[in-house]
Amino acid sequence: MRTETPAPIRLADYTPPAFLVDEVHLDFDLKPEATRVRARLSLRRNGAAGAPLKLDGERLKTLSVAVDGRVLGPGEFTADDHSLTIPGVPDAFALETEVEINPAANKALEGLYMSGGRFCTQCEAEGFRTLTWYPDRPDVLARFTVRMTADDAWPRLLSNGNLVETGRGPDGRRYAVWNDPFPKPCYLFALVAGELDELVDSFVTASGRKVELKIYVDPGMSARAAYAMDALKRSMRWDEEAFGREYDLDLFMIVAVRDFNFGAMENKGLNIFNSSLLLADPETATDLDYERIESVVAHEYFHNWTGNRITCRDWFQLCLKEGLTVFRDQSFSADMRGEAVQRIKDVKALRARQFAEDQGPLAHPVRPSSYLKIDNFYTATIYEKGAEVIRMLKALIGAEAFRKGMDLYFERWDGCATTVEAFIACFAEVSGQDLSAFFAWYEQAGTPRVRLASRWTPETGELEITLTQRTPATPGQADKRALPVPVRLGLLDAEGRTMAFTRDGEAQDETLVV
Ligand code: SER
Ligand code: ZN
Repeated sequence: MRTETPAPIRLADYTPPAFLVDEVHLDFDLKPEATRVRARLSLRRNGAAGAPLKLDGERLKTLSVAVDGRVLGPGEFTADDHSLTIPGVPDAFALETEVEINPAANKALEGLYMSGGRFCTQCEAEGFRTLTWYPDRPDVLARFTVRMTADDAWPRLLSNGNLVETGRGPDGRRYAVWNDPFPKPCYLFALVAGELDELVDSFVTASGRKVELKIYVDPGMSARAAYAMDALKRSMRWDEEAFGREYDLDLFMIVAVRDFNFGAMENKGLNIFNSSLLLADPETATDLDYERIESVVAHEYFHNWTGNRITCRDWFQLCLKEGLTVFRDQSFSADMRGEAVQRIKDVKALRARQFAEDQGPLAHPVRPSSYLKIDNFYTATIYEKGAEVIRMLKALIGAEAFRKGMDLYFERWDGCATTVEAFIACFAEVSGQDLSAFFAWYEQAGTPRVRLASRWTPETGELEITLTQRTPATPGQADKRALPVPVRLGLLDAEGRTMAFTRDGEAQDETLVV
């Protein structure tokens, strides 16, 4: 029996990375049972002088470690089950490591594994450390170049960014080299190798750049990806129109795999999907299947800006990319399919999944303050409630200020790893509103119960409305603060027609109460 309790990780303990990585070169020699991974990292000290280099790694068989071209002897580093430590490193240097991993034995569907005979990866949140020694944290952003070599059984060799080169090596095996010019955290790294059919299309961005679109599926299945391709093009256009966001690489790829823990994953330029959320057979697919494909394709695509170009400083900020991206995909679906119907669906899902979570032992804030394993926090609270909080923010400051705040966020934080505070600060700045009370939505768990009481005085024609709020206690948070809940109110007459009224002397037919 295992009795040791893992130590919780706390938001309050965050410290910046001790070393940054500018460039990464990865070389994968792909074999199902013994894949060799050679990594060359250009490292730069970011913390205390003289501190040792410490990298994350799990289930790695370390074959060699070299600093600035010099292979280290066994006494010059320590490698255990979780970390590689090298004392006495310079302030800027190149680290080369070679490890062996076993994708065929990896049944966790995290890291590099085999699905339907193909190689594929899932690195969010902390799977990259099972591929190579690395500072596996989202605030280390590096430019990746990836080379992979495989036998002819794996003819398509895909990774992030742009394809630089393909060919056959001296041993006759196939290779491909990919380069991603956008610095990214390692959780957005992806690799796929195998036999796949390709559905090809293209998209011309608002500024006139042509982007190649490719969807990779099981042989014979490409016709089933036609709807996903259509949804992708509509998502790309919508993000330009609704948020002013253009796609940035020359190529955008989606791969459907059969074994996948998440629904899908937003790896830069190479989204990976569970096939069930990408492929539709017109003979059997229902309307609901099409809706889900459309919204997940949009969600993953929208991550390119909210998640990839701007990422999270640490995993406590998960809602910064997820809540915001769900809000964006819900807004997209509302525009595609009708606002009222979409809203009813989203509210039903929220009540069924998130309200239940809030009432149970696992209730947690949209931004938790501690965790044991971040994998347990991909929850309805982070995603769906995270989206509702953004929706309330938009209601509070108005659509115009909301868009300005988003523009400022994209401008200020592009290429960075940031926090929920930095995000909210953009909206406070553009709206001139003090959003400090609103921030409690991120820190307080539980579903507030709002009651509305009204008193009508026929003599004066006055209607007095009082809103009261109570939030039941949740584990670890007995006392709750009152939260700003923007409520839009209007009056209807007996025939259901909108009635005009005055509030504080101002004529209106709808009013916002906070
Ligand atoms: N980051 C992934 C997504 O939200 C994991 O689910 O799409
Ligand atoms: Zn997401």
